Amino acid sequence: MAIKRPSGPQGNFLLGSINQFSQDEPKFLLESVKQFGDLVYFRLAHVHTYLLGHPDLIREVLVTQSNKFEKAPLDKQILGKFLGNGLLTSDGQFHRRQRRLAQPAFHSKRIQNYAEVMVDYTNQIMAEWQDDAIVDVTQEMMHLTMLIVSKTLFDADAITGTGDTAATISSAMHDFQAVSNRDYQRGFSLPSWIPTADNRLRNRAAKEFNQVMEQIIAERRQTAVNGQVADTGDLLSMLMLSVDEDGTFMDDRQLRDEVATLFAAGHETTSNALSWTWYLLAQHPEIEAKLHEELDTVLDGRQPTLADLPNLPYSLQIIKESMRLYPPAWILNGRLALEDAEIGDYTIPKGSTVFVSPYVMHHLPQYFDKPETFMPERFTPEFEKALPKFAYMPFGGGARVCIGNAFAMMEAHLILAAIAQRFSLELATDKPVQYKAQITLTPVDGIQMRLVERETAVATPPQSEIAYA
Ligand code: HEM
Repeated sequence: MAIKRPSGPQGNFLLGSINQFSQDEPKFLLESVKQFGDLVYFRLAHVHTYLLGHPDLIREVLVTQSNKFEKAPLDKQILGKFLGNGLLTSDGQFHRRQRRLAQPAFHSKRIQNYAEVMVDYTNQIMAEWQDDAIVDVTQEMMHLTMLIVSKTLFDADAITGTGDTAATISSAMHDFQAVSNRDYQRGFSLPSWIPTADNRLRNRAAKEFNQVMEQIIAERRQTAVNGQVADTGDLLSMLMLSVDEDGTFMDDRQLRDEVATLFAAGHETTSNALSWTWYLLAQHPEIEAKLHEELDTVLDGRQPTLADLPNLPYSLQIIKESMRLYPPAWILNGRLALEDAEIGDYTIPKGSTVFVSPYVMHHLPQYFDKPETFMPERFTPEFEKALPKFAYMPFGGGARVCIGNAFAMMEAHLILAAIAQRFSLELATDKPVQYKAQITLTPVDGIQMRLVERETAVATPPQSEIAYA
């Protein structure tokens, strides 16, 4: 019997819709939902693809019938080459075990200890900033979130004998991400043993990363007393101390995969969220003025702390609205249907791929009035309460929701407050900044911005020693 398929863009006989898709992926998906409705079908070469454009359908795939889906082969292939079998790329029973083991590291109490580190590193970055200088804010934010993730994950600056560990790791990560982006563009990833330039680059990056990680983990193992490593306060300690119900711990290989995953997932995402926020603020002086007013009233020149965050609701609204317009994770990893699944009025056949795109959902006028306008005011508690779940989903949803959600929100909130208190960032170019839909939604050529020290700015705060609370 012929399969009844939802309608969608036709594409051509051989490649399906690959050409239209790759011209501007988020736009292609958004226009498809606007034109064809809540469930859209198209083909990307041989891959039968179903795009979900309604919160109820997303709930079916991510929650109600999630056991019928796993991460798509292309994502596992590309990301798995470096990340191995970590939280992002694993599935089923194994993923559930890893999620159980990793969860304590992200307990809110634990995460809150990192607030000071986040502000201290922000101050460290700002100490280099000169009034009236022009910087590429995407690089500044990337460097900052990299420092924070290295410190909070494995206490990078406490490691001895490896040179600049954080720099080695971040350059390996950078190479891996660049190669992965190119693989996504090609739509396939050649086996690692084929000596293409990209494979060589990624293999070398993985080797360097593995060497550093082996040393870090070995050093931790040496601190063990009765098999228990010392808790140094970072996420790695927690991962090493976490015991499953059957009494087993993560082995070294698994720890390596999880650290690689957390590093990769937790650094470019937050950095892009912040870069887009600066871009939007620079274009909306009235919103920036309101932000400054909130910061000046609540902080009055003090550095922000964790305790201040509940009193800075407008700052948080700005971040939420910025992630609505430019969700760093513009699309979730594809989901492969392991069996036929009834979704809405259709059957998604076994072997098809399902796309869920936060970008698409965040730009639909049925959920967000004037969806292309930057309006932090819309994110009132009432609005959020009334918003259907999965209409706003920068961190995904269901069992695979981002494990670093609270970490990232706290980080972005603190960084925004700490920087905006001292600097106003003005656009140093007239050209609109375009996005590139890579693994994350990235500004094409960075964002050149002028740093303007605010008159009310706090004197450079004393550089506290960066340590855990
Ligand atoms: C603004 C920042 C961030 C955004 C927008 C973001 C977004 C996401 C999204 C959408 C997913 C779901 C992917 C899918 O379902 O296919 C995800 C998963 C994940 N994120 Fe994040 N993330 C951010 C920050 C972080 C941070 C700071 C960390 C860790 C320190 C992190 C670690 C992870 C991990 C490990 C997963 C996989 C979870 C699982 O499948 O069990 N993320 N993230």
